[in-house]
Amino acid sequence: MNPAKPELARRNSLEPHPVSQSESDTNLTDRRARWQSEHLDGRGRALMERDARAFLHQSVSTPCLNAIAKAQGIWIEDTAGRRYMDFHGNNVHHIGYGHPRLKRAIAEQMEQLPFAPRRYACEAALELAEKLAAIAPGSLEKVLFTTGGSDAVEVAVKVARAATRRFKTLSFWDAFHGAGLGASSLSGEALFRAGPGAPFMAGAQHVAPFGCYRCPYGHPCDENGDPFLDRCRLACANMVDYVLAREGDVAAVICEPARAVPYLPPPGYWQSVREACDRHGALLIFDEIPTGLGKTGRMFACDHDGVIPDILVLGKALGGGILPIAAVIARADLDVGGDWAFGHYTHEKNPVTARAALTTIEIIEDEGLVENAATIGAAALERLCEMKQRLPAIGDVRGRGLLLGLDLVKSRDTKEPDAELAETVLYRALDRGLSFKTTMGNVLTLTPPLTITNDEMMRALDIVEEAIEGGNGE
Ligand SMILES: Cc1ncc(COP(=O)(O)O)c(C=O)c1O
Repeated sequence: MNPAKPELARRNSLEPHPVSQSESDTNLTDRRARWQSEHLDGRGRALMERDARAFLHQSVSTPCLNAIAKAQGIWIEDTAGRRYMDFHGNNVHHIGYGHPRLKRAIAEQMEQLPFAPRRYACEAALELAEKLAAIAPGSLEKVLFTTGGSDAVEVAVKVARAATRRFKTLSFWDAFHGAGLGASSLSGEALFRAGPGAPFMAGAQHVAPFGCYRCPYGHPCDENGDPFLDRCRLACANMVDYVLAREGDVAAVICEPARAVPYLPPPGYWQSVREACDRHGALLIFDEIPTGLGKTGRMFACDHDGVIPDILVLGKALGGGILPIAAVIARADLDVGGDWAFGHYTHEKNPVTARAALTTIEIIEDEGLVENAATIGAAALERLCEMKQRLPAIGDVRGRGLLLGLDLVKSRDTKEPDAELAETVLYRALDRGLSFKTTMGNVLTLTPPLTITNDEMMRALDIVEEAIEGGNGE
């Protein structure tokens, strides 16, 4: 072994960043190790060991929790044959895993035309572009495709730069917009933007987000987590205006219209930010990579707020949980980069990924999945609010459609986050066949597929309730 290697490894093994909150659960606690020692079978253990040897380790990703063997509908199954309702699914599984119609459409497309070199137009990519223009809010109508969400976010920023001839961006602290160098710069989580990967893109400014239950500007909320608007006067939106005014030359504000934590915008937030953008010549980009295509009970999360962005970014579920594809949809007059190559990706017009996306949208429409997300989501929210009446550990219940969250606290008065309980609940729920992730340490984030039935949802919420009732004991 090269004697320099251990020294290099020592120098490079950095202490974790002091701000460890993240939009994902981390993977290194004792409890995780204990759960694994009790639940992994031989095959799973062997896969996990190979996985840990093969992949570069990174927080919230590798080493893994468990090894998976099947994914079907709302279910995933591990190598020991244990089945879990997947209330996480990285938000790719809107139509459920392995939808038969989608698999058929992909197979047929592979037969017909498996690939299109970029300089050729193809039917599937065109149909998808036209469909996205038809369903997108307002007059968003010109499209580019990428393979992943991070790339699409970066394309959107390039389009905004070209259209405004400015380079700065404004995004939220605590947000995640992707792992690329540009998208990491927009992200506001220490895990992604601090540490040895830095420095990132110049001009990427951040502002504290909305989040009424734990308002970063220190304003109180009522017992339902709703703001007292007459007192806070939308300080969070005013700060966006303030920063845009002081900077004077921001190209774009880029944010998730409903934060994945989840946190919903206070009434009037996006209208106010839209006006601020218009006043200061900045474009508004909505990252709907997790929320788009019906997750929140409307086709787009921004539909709830009646605010139309200048550019919308989609990804994740767009590929139907089988193939990777993301999209940028922009106003026609932002088509100003014709002499440049902002999104010159190899799979830009891949007919197979395009067909997967088109069929996914058709399935969402034909099966009424947006409406189902709204109906089941409303019933779930009601049930969670009832749970909150009984269980003091639930400080706040938030959500829209099938983007739901329970904020667990040690005390409702202090709102001190109870990350320990959240972790206990996570593993207890896994024992009972429900998989979800925690966000910011203490928020149980529930994002099931849009195909879920009321019975399945209530069964899952029974599990969550029992798990919280069990308290912090083993
Ligand atoms: C809001 C948001 N934007 C962007 C991304 C990045 O998407 P991808 O992982 O496909 O690059 C994610 C992924 O989790 C996301 O949640």
